[in-house]
Amino acid sequence: MTLKKWLTGSVWVASLLLATTASAATFKVAIGDAAGGTQYELGKVFAEQLKEKSGGSVTADLFPNSQLGDEQDTINDAAMGLLDFSILAINNITPFSPSVAVLTLPYVIQSLEDAKTLTQGEVGKELTEKTIRDAGVRIVGWSYSGFRVLTNSKRPVRSLDDLKGLIIRVPKNELMIAFYNALGVNPTPMAWNETFTALQQGVVDGQDNPYITISAMKFDEVQKYITPIRYLFSLEPLVMSEQVFQAQTPEVQAWILEAGQAATEYSYEYIQVTEDSIKQELQAAGMEIVELANNEQDWIDAATTKVWPAFYDSIGGKERLDAVLATLNR
Ligand code: MLT
Repeated sequence: MTLKKWLTGSVWVASLLLATTASAATFKVAIGDAAGGTQYELGKVFAEQLKEKSGGSVTADLFPNSQLGDEQDTINDAAMGLLDFSILAINNITPFSPSVAVLTLPYVIQSLEDAKTLTQGEVGKELTEKTIRDAGVRIVGWSYSGFRVLTNSKRPVRSLDDLKGLIIRVPKNELMIAFYNALGVNPTPMAWNETFTALQQGVVDGQDNPYITISAMKFDEVQKYITPIRYLFSLEPLVMSEQVFQAQTPEVQAWILEAGQAATEYSYEYIQVTEDSIKQELQAAGMEIVELANNEQDWIDAATTKVWPAFYDSIGGKERLDAVLATLNR
């Protein structure tokens, strides 16, 4: 074969390869929690679906356990286009996109159904647009992780009086700090990836997170009592860097959105079949679930009278909260 023929042939093969792999990509997905929690399950199904829909040309690698940075750092990285995806707790997005806080106002979401109605309806669409605008990331899926329950290593907490004097870790989130202030405690804001060690070393006595997260993070090894408060239903979105999204072909964008929706639907089923058994496992591991006095009413009153009004401005006004509550028929 002459050099000319060989070159022509090689150029042709290279062009063919380029054309067939124009949509090929491997994305990185940062995950705050360890494998085994709802965040990881969402990511796993998303990656499987993406691979299937793209015929294997688009894949996603998962990096659990904050390997790619603390949850709040991953939002920054994604906004700058340095990271493709992140799965993180919603409370770690609100500092960058305050209107999302409407989903984290204490006691607004009272059930899994409420969580689904808000995330998959008009409110969810509106939040996606605002999150792109304010934080540079697009919400492409949701994991439903259950209510955040309070754990501590010191004593059974049944009432607000029992809570006094405990050092509680909270995410660096103004609303959650305000919630504990309203309950009469001064919590300790701390990054998620420092929390286990802080609990282990007794730097803090307690924290709150869903049962599934407590189990995935092995908090049962360093915490004893669970108070099943229901102030915040933990939503953990899969977000994508908007810069990276816009750089994809329409075909890849469609696969991403479809895979995100499929993973969301899976997450909704997953929590329902998993949460009870996880709760039992935590009890079998030695954790004690205590009963709340007065059906949690003191906590609810403190939150709705002191915390809600302080956040009307950041969520877009009291009318917005009223509209969200009306969506939930309240
Ligand atoms: C937090 O407490 O910072 C988050 O809820 C942790 C998580 O992502 O599970």
